[in-house]
Amino acid sequence: MAVAGLESLDRLNALSLTRSFTPQTDIDWSADTTEAEFEALYPAAALLAGTGADAGLDARCRALYARYQQINLMTLTGLVERHGVAALAQLYDLEPSQPFAEYIGHFIKEEVYHYTMFLRAAERLQQGMPGLPPLPTRGMDRAVRWLFAAGGWLPGRKLRASLAFTFFRFTEQLTMVIHQVVQECAPRRDSLINQVWSCHARDEARHLAFDALVLERNRLGPPLSWLPAALAAPACVGLALLINANEVWAARQLGLNLSVWQVPGLMRRTRAPFKRRVFGLLSAALGRQSEGP
Ligand SMILES: [Fe+2]
Ligand SMILES: [Fe+2]
Repeated sequence: MAVAGLESLDRLNALSLTRSFTPQTDIDWSADTTEAEFEALYPAAALLAGTGADAGLDARCRALYARYQQINLMTLTGLVERHGVAALAQLYDLEPSQPFAEYIGHFIKEEVYHYTMFLRAAERLQQGMPGLPPLPTRGMDRAVRWLFAAGGWLPGRKLRASLAFTFFRFTEQLTMVIHQVVQECAPRRDSLINQVWSCHARDEARHLAFDALVLERNRLGPPLSWLPAALAAPACVGLALLINANEVWAARQLGLNLSVWQVPGLMRRTRAPFKRRVFGLLSAALGRQSEGP
């Protein structure tokens, strides 16, 4: 991706005014996502797809699993945005220029809006699962809160910015992949999950350009150039394990006898294109060319 320069900051600022959205009013919250659409997402996105561990799931259960998976992805994305806001606010100290400060303001405002949107959407999706327990989110909340707190204790403004934005970039790329998978498998524009991920992707395309700018301007020279990626990699792997452990939890609610210890094996065996693409991103975050987890 091209690195945005100063003139690009002006463009990003202008686009934040014309291309952003307000979740409360720009999303049709009365819209639904059909069982057939969730079912279509299952083979493309589920951890269990192609592993043979899901033989006991009928079509209805696969749709419910996909619904849990959407709640899981939206909750995690929202938590990263909520706890990441503090790291974003520290960026005001990085550079004194007005366009830079203006864009940080847009970035923070947009992530706060996204958090609200994902909370609402996850709640709406859960309402469509009467009798099933809500996805446990306390572990994810603690993990993300701790990750950002630990990043804030690191010495050096450049290192803190590089780490935070390596992590942001990974999660933002992840959400772009989710958006693409939803568009491919459940392309109805009015469906709730399609509206949510489409609106989000509109803002995230600009965030990724800004990530590249911050990472470029805060690049550490040798011998420390490897450090941000080395520190971000375990955080990204930890998040991937958490997301997939929640999918095993969801499968258990739907009657499968799986254990959390099977998560690494299932990650290796899954054939879901979404998972393979995410593991590719993870490999890139780890600095490898491999396509596997
Ligand atoms: Fe976001
Ligand atoms: Fe973002």
